[in-house]
Amino acid sequence: MCGIIAYIGPHPALPRIIEGLKRMEYRGYDSAGVALASEGRLWVRKEVGRVSELTRRLGGGPEVGIGLGHTRWATHGGLTQVNAHPHVDASQQIAVVHNGIIENNNILRSQLEADGVAFRSETDTEILPHLIRKHYRGDPVQAVRDAVQHVQGTYGIAVLFAEHPDVLVAVRNGSPLVVGLGRGETVLASDPQAVVAHTRQVVYLQDRELAVITTDGADVQTLAGQVVDSEVEVLDGDYQLASKEGFPHFMLKEIHEQPRSVRRALRGRLQVDDGNAKLGGLNMTPRDLLSVQRVINLGCGTSYHAGMVAAMAVESLARVPARAEIASEFRYRHPIIQREAVFFAFSQSGETADTLGAVSEIQIKGGEVMGVVNVVGSTIARTCGQGVYVHSGPEIAVASTKAFTSQIAAQLVFTLMLARCRNLSLEQGQAVAAALDGIPGKISQYLQEPGPIDAAVELIASARYVLFLGRGFSYPVALEGALKLKEIAYIPCEGYPAGEMKHGPIAMLDDGAPVVFIAPRDSQTEKAISNMMEVKARGARLICVHTQGDDEVAGLADVSLPVPRSTDFASPLLTALPLQLIAYHTGLALQRDVDKPRNLAKSVTVE
Ligand code: F6R
Repeated sequence: MCGIIAYIGPHPALPRIIEGLKRMEYRGYDSAGVALASEGRLWVRKEVGRVSELTRRLGGGPEVGIGLGHTRWATHGGLTQVNAHPHVDASQQIAVVHNGIIENNNILRSQLEADGVAFRSETDTEILPHLIRKHYRGDPVQAVRDAVQHVQGTYGIAVLFAEHPDVLVAVRNGSPLVVGLGRGETVLASDPQAVVAHTRQVVYLQDRELAVITTDGADVQTLAGQVVDSEVEVLDGDYQLASKEGFPHFMLKEIHEQPRSVRRALRGRLQVDDGNAKLGGLNMTPRDLLSVQRVINLGCGTSYHAGMVAAMAVESLARVPARAEIASEFRYRHPIIQREAVFFAFSQSGETADTLGAVSEIQIKGGEVMGVVNVVGSTIARTCGQGVYVHSGPEIAVASTKAFTSQIAAQLVFTLMLARCRNLSLEQGQAVAAALDGIPGKISQYLQEPGPIDAAVELIASARYVLFLGRGFSYPVALEGALKLKEIAYIPCEGYPAGEMKHGPIAMLDDGAPVVFIAPRDSQTEKAISNMMEVKARGARLICVHTQGDDEVAGLADVSLPVPRSTDFASPLLTALPLQLIAYHTGLALQRDVDKPRNLAKSVTVE
């Protein structure tokens, strides 16, 4: 969460900082701010709201070649101008931007208050400039090093000293920071996205490393002061400034991109003739695959739902025990890590702190964990060292859509490999590979004729509560549909396994309550139909996502949303689509900011 940018070089820093903030705004958009060092003083501006709000009120800043900026996702303290970053010390000489959480905030705050410091904001971050000032004896690097020794928690920070307009100091502990090494200019950011406008030569800081940043580059040291020989890497991902390509919103564009993004997740991986597949990033031979006794998929939010679908596919096709787990719960329940288990960390951004925490826990206990990640070079991808890139392309809308289907598609490829070396014959493997190969075409077919989404939106937009139901592979889809509607339209709703409905949530249904039922034709359709009857008997209005031509299910629906026929394990790649469209259009109908829903951020880098 939160975007950090800092620039030092021969050009005016302010427009470069603003450009970087715009590129990182998806990380948090509660407030934004900048600080420049000019003639021995700090020039600081900050505003509540978007970067555009900041630029609107900015006026011209001093034309200096050093400064830093921040776009915030609030943790400590409300959405106010005072709580926006950068934060400065009492003498207004030291400015700090911070991403992360300072866990011993209360203790440090009390100690500083006892020293006579008067805090202006409610943030944990404001500790930092005061603490650095306390340790400042004329050497900016030493002051930062001494100060952070007292800080517990996660942080990526950048520090600017008015008295030292030739240096920036940055420290990383748990929140990503990358240094871009340009020609005569250096850029620090929390995200490569903000660096590529200047250079593709980068150094990723590691935890408990400090960087002394000048126009000549960055000296990286440990917090103990030992020089680190950091590897210079070249960014090779797709970091184009995102365009809506004629769509009114990124979310709609990304929904419509799914024929291409799912195709990219499969491309070069399926071996249809052999009924098999290959994932170059996995370094697993058939013998390694044969020794896998358990698959555990970890993730948060939408990525967790993708992990659920993938785990069900592993059990159903490869007959290997598999489950999905919520990453934020995983490490705190002292998990058992078995040698013959394979863990996958599902993450679109590759930066989610909860998922990264789970990865570290597995690695500490000697387990094997691989990434299922979209953003190339992200922290989870690099920490895992091996895994599957899902190649959905940059996902800008905060609500995840195309990354969900790409994660599922990529892990169905893995499932095919796992199943093929066990219980799938050549013919069965060919059938699975062909089914997967046909999915992008079917997604395209559905998106050309998405059915009466407007009618569904009409039932949902005024509802007090919406229930999403599904059985088997459609249960995670129900969870995902409910999550999408919550985040985009702010309507109370929940996803439930359809068979569980009668054990509680049925009490929520009354006359006219919309129930979205995901019921593609599969082995559970007859049971699903019984659940639909139970719903209808309570006066609820049924919105059914079902297989094209399934007149039995369509006949029960108040709103019928047919999707092309597919096999059960691939059905979520199709049934999720109408739910994404329902969330998008309901959000629009209720005048929500669909690309940047309230309180959220694209990249959740705090626990
Ligand atoms: C929902 C959504 C979130 C993310 C979750 C994990 O639309 O976007 O629930 O799925 O925060 O993020 P990643 O996948 O980046 O680890």
